[in-house]
Amino acid sequence: MDLSHPQSNLSLGFLSHVSAPASSIPANSNPNRILINDDSISFQIDSRLRESSIPMPSIPLQLLESQAVQNCRKIENGCVGERERVAVVEPKRDVGEDAEEREEENRGEDEDEEVEEFRILGHSMCLKRRRDREDSVSSSTALAKRVFFDSSMEARKGAVRAWGNQPLRLADPEIFNIMDKEKLRQCKGIELIASENFVCRAVMEALGSSLTNKYSEGMPGQRYYGGNQYIDEIELLCCDRALAAFGLSSESWGVNVQPYSCTSANFAVYTGLLLPGDRIMGLDTLSGGNSSHGHYTPSGRKVSGASIFFESLPYKVNPQTGYVDYDKLEEKALDFRPKILICGGSSYPREWDYARLRQIADKCGAILMCDMAQISGLIAAKECVSPFDYCDIVTSTTHKSLRGPRGGIIFFRKGKKPRKRSSLNPSEDNEQYDFEDKINFAVFPILQGGPHNNHIAALAIALKQVASPEYKAYMQQVKRNAQALASALLRRKCKLLTGGTDNHLLLWDLRPLGLTGKNFEKVCESCHITLNKVALIGDNGAITPGGVRIGTPAMTTRGCLESDFEVIADFLIRAAQITSIMQREHGKVAKCFIKGLQSNKDIIDLRNRIEAFASQFAMPGFDV
Ligand SMILES: Cc1ncc(COP(=O)(O)O)c(C=O)c1O
Repeated sequence: MDLSHPQSNLSLGFLSHVSAPASSIPANSNPNRILINDDSISFQIDSRLRESSIPMPSIPLQLLESQAVQNCRKIENGCVGERERVAVVEPKRDVGEDAEEREEENRGEDEDEEVEEFRILGHSMCLKRRRDREDSVSSSTALAKRVFFDSSMEARKGAVRAWGNQPLRLADPEIFNIMDKEKLRQCKGIELIASENFVCRAVMEALGSSLTNKYSEGMPGQRYYGGNQYIDEIELLCCDRALAAFGLSSESWGVNVQPYSCTSANFAVYTGLLLPGDRIMGLDTLSGGNSSHGHYTPSGRKVSGASIFFESLPYKVNPQTGYVDYDKLEEKALDFRPKILICGGSSYPREWDYARLRQIADKCGAILMCDMAQISGLIAAKECVSPFDYCDIVTSTTHKSLRGPRGGIIFFRKGKKPRKRSSLNPSEDNEQYDFEDKINFAVFPILQGGPHNNHIAALAIALKQVASPEYKAYMQQVKRNAQALASALLRRKCKLLTGGTDNHLLLWDLRPLGLTGKNFEKVCESCHITLNKVALIGDNGAITPGGVRIGTPAMTTRGCLESDFEVIADFLIRAAQITSIMQREHGKVAKCFIKGLQSNKDIIDLRNRIEAFASQFAMPGFDV
């Protein structure tokens, strides 16, 4: 505990031996006393008390703050006495006649403070709180009213509540203020990052709940610690809802909702089903793939666990069309023979041909895995083709189009495998999938510790919504908005990779405009639009990305319709014009370009218009 920054408005102090280090106790001190040390804090308990029949609960030492130390010094100077209410164990210690007078003086100085003195286990203690805080919790208000305690338990409750029930704005104004600024940023801006979304209040409530307190390593019904009956209920409900959201039967599919993120979920699949060095194959990052499917820089550096611990070979999109080149993929896969063939990506605006991928996987004996992180919401709402009909494993994030808390999820096939048409061996007829135990074991204990139960409850809440007609309507709107934005940009002669979109995102190729993705992203950020630069096929790695990725889920959550995305398209075009002018004036090099951003009048003007536009829309979960 950092004692240099008192933040609580209540402090609890031990009067008699607060700061005496063990070494400073004189050899001739009372032999009946034993010394208890807790980090920097030490205090003494009379051993006669230990021998008595009075139960001795432990005192929460973490409640001590620097105020307690200061306060106790003050009391050692003589302010103990007048207002002591309770003598629980032994009579009050005499601290001198002049104490009351000095306390009167101190009270004048500390007009906005109140001090309660009492004794616990023979120790004089004081509770000190400021009087001027209108936001104080009810327990400390009770203390301020100087309720007569009839047991030391009241004092301890008060102290715990004063620390434990403090609202954030009092407990940590520094963090509170930064968080407030972030809220404002979210409300006043246009959020177009395809992976982001806004969760509802119910999800936020679950995230900030008592569930964060519980350790529950293991699976429901098989935990390492006790006290998990409700956590089990929550996790089982979450799993049921996950299967229901994607229309899956529990006979044929299992699900693990514990991964902390999709990167962890993907790595758990590789770890559970492969040996180190085994081969995987996923979409190249320059073609829109995710680095958790394996990634090397142009210089060959491995920058993903997937490529460090496994051997990864990417397949690509066709540079002319922007669509996955399935013929080349097949050729490569048959040479490389990956054990897992991965489909799904971070920046791919088109449908996947799962049937073709299944054929290729079967031809090379690979497990077919889909990472549906970007499009899981669309799949749940049946607004995108489902990978579940063809894949063996499906992973996802839970916080993008799915609109849940941050996290990952793994679906795996279970039960009997379908009979291979080519098989002549009757024993293969009864082959069972063996993913469940391997994947669960990889998640815990191999890669993770205790599940984040608050996230799992929040995910259960989001998944309940995913199964509702309102969510289906939301996803349809997400797609319509993406189409509207694509059409608006195409009308203005902008180039989109693949010429449009089948889902929630589009890739704007800025190279024909002579702009870099990095500079355009910076201008947008200065104008209060958030989107992200992406390297496109043909770019030299991610150093000078030639495009940006734009997604519609977040602003659709805030209530934007097609006409609003027409306005957003205008803002984007204006931002591109500004970028172009600035590149001409300052050059493309980021360092010089960024200097030009400050106090640029066009940017200020556009920002004002954008903030006025965005501020009209509601924000789920909180108001500013
Ligand atoms: C397809 C895909 N997989 C995995 C991830 C990584 O997800 P997380 O941040 O939860 O690890 C992303 C993130 O954008 C993604 O788009």
